[in-house]
Amino acid sequence: MQTAPWWQTAVLYQVYPRSFQDANGDGVGDLQGILARLDSLVELGVDALWLSPIYPSPMADFGYDVANYCDVDPLFGSLADFDTLLEAAHARGLRLVLDLVPNHTSSQHPWFVASRSSRRDPHRDWYLWHDPAPGGGPPNNWTSHFGGSAWTLDQSTGQYYLHSFLPEQPDLNWRNPEVRAAIYSAMRFWLERGTAAGGRGVDGFRVDVLWLLIKDALFRDNPANPAWDGALLPLYTADRPEVHAIVGEMRSLLEEYGDRVLIGEIYLPLRNLMAYYGFDPASQSLRGAHLPFNFHLIHTPWQAEAIAQLVMTYEALLPPGAWPNWVLGNHDQHRLATRLGPYQIRTAAMLLLTLRGTPTLYYGDELGMPDGHLTPEQQRDPAGLRQPGAGRDAERTPMLWDGSPHAGFSPVEPWLPVHPEYPQTNANAQAMAPRSVLSLYRQLLRLRRAHPALHCGSVTTVSAQSGVLGYQRHQGEDHLQIYLNLTEELQSVTSPRGTILLTTILDGAGGAVEGTLYLEPGEGLLIQLG
Ligand code: NOJ
Repeated sequence: MQTAPWWQTAVLYQVYPRSFQDANGDGVGDLQGILARLDSLVELGVDALWLSPIYPSPMADFGYDVANYCDVDPLFGSLADFDTLLEAAHARGLRLVLDLVPNHTSSQHPWFVASRSSRRDPHRDWYLWHDPAPGGGPPNNWTSHFGGSAWTLDQSTGQYYLHSFLPEQPDLNWRNPEVRAAIYSAMRFWLERGTAAGGRGVDGFRVDVLWLLIKDALFRDNPANPAWDGALLPLYTADRPEVHAIVGEMRSLLEEYGDRVLIGEIYLPLRNLMAYYGFDPASQSLRGAHLPFNFHLIHTPWQAEAIAQLVMTYEALLPPGAWPNWVLGNHDQHRLATRLGPYQIRTAAMLLLTLRGTPTLYYGDELGMPDGHLTPEQQRDPAGLRQPGAGRDAERTPMLWDGSPHAGFSPVEPWLPVHPEYPQTNANAQAMAPRSVLSLYRQLLRLRRAHPALHCGSVTTVSAQSGVLGYQRHQGEDHLQIYLNLTEELQSVTSPRGTILLTTILDGAGGAVEGTLYLEPGEGLLIQLG
């Protein structure tokens, strides 16, 4: 029997390096800090880390503005620190995935500095330059994801350049083969295993805004969005058909290195999302991203009917051989505990870790850590500074390790404030509390690893009854039933015969069940059938 690739049975854990662990005492997390916490991730039971960008950067968008694709920002450490971290991770059986930011560079990247220096510079066409509109002003109506026009005029050369995000993040021209070659060579830099000549050996990439890489060649205006007054439909700036050839090239490149993973950040409706698996009917093979991130749980109402529908639709739409995945939080979304409240974070944990497909966990969610509290002066995110209310600082506050000052994250005042709940909500305290959220995550992760039905089995019998989401998982002789009470009231279900493996309230494992079963508000049950 062929064994599944590691990224199918793995649980991914996202580290936002600025906020994970500060080892050098400057208030910002770093690579040595991550190294120091690897054992706690092993204890948690995750299999792979994805690091948000660590490359040299002016930090206009906290690393998503890359000034050099083949180095480490001194704020985070050095390449030598990275090699040490990677080796230590691998020695512990943990994989390490890097964030690749190919849509745009920093405006301080030497490529852009050259590109803006003259219309005749060989790097001019590496970015998206355009003459002003006939009467002057930006070439078209495209808008930045951080508000305002997506175009900025470069006075000295008299043309506008495109930036889908900040003016400090000019978009690369992915129609230019030299751009592709340059990014691909950076990918090789990190994928190549260590040799005398260098090389590192990362286990894959999470590709930033993969669905935005190609823009309309004719620079046509985006049409008005009929559903939302004043907004535009990103018809010409997102999900362009030509993007799939690029995803295919990235996939082929990764395959040269063996079992590495290509993960795509893609915010699209399910039908469009499926195309990023790159199913080729002629060869009946998948040529796209291994895991096009599925963010739909983040935006689906937390109701049994809605989630059952989502699971069934997603499963039904997957192309042949495609492997599902689920995400509940990341550095761009309000934290799970803030979105769902204290009871439902437990059902959320059970849902994420018992659905079919690779789950991605965001650091701190394993503690039920809520959004941080920030005064207006403490806000740092450029998205929030440009568009009030759109800030993402609250979900990026420091990891809560223990009850010591600054929650054990740093010896000094951190770059973002530590959540005031840290004396109670921290990893140390929760590790010792058998009914804590962390204990729940650890048990779920242990069971997920131990049960083939959970890490590689099928999902069947998805149902929603009186606010309780139910489904079964099967693999060989391993048959499991999951029930999640997504309401704030006591509910009952009729269960097949089995034994309780775990309840989210961490009380009552080992009990036999058959027939009517009661679930507390926000309770989840994992039952071994038979
Ligand atoms: C998506 C990233 O997740 C987000 O944090 C960033 O601001 C934008 N891409 C721009 O790179």
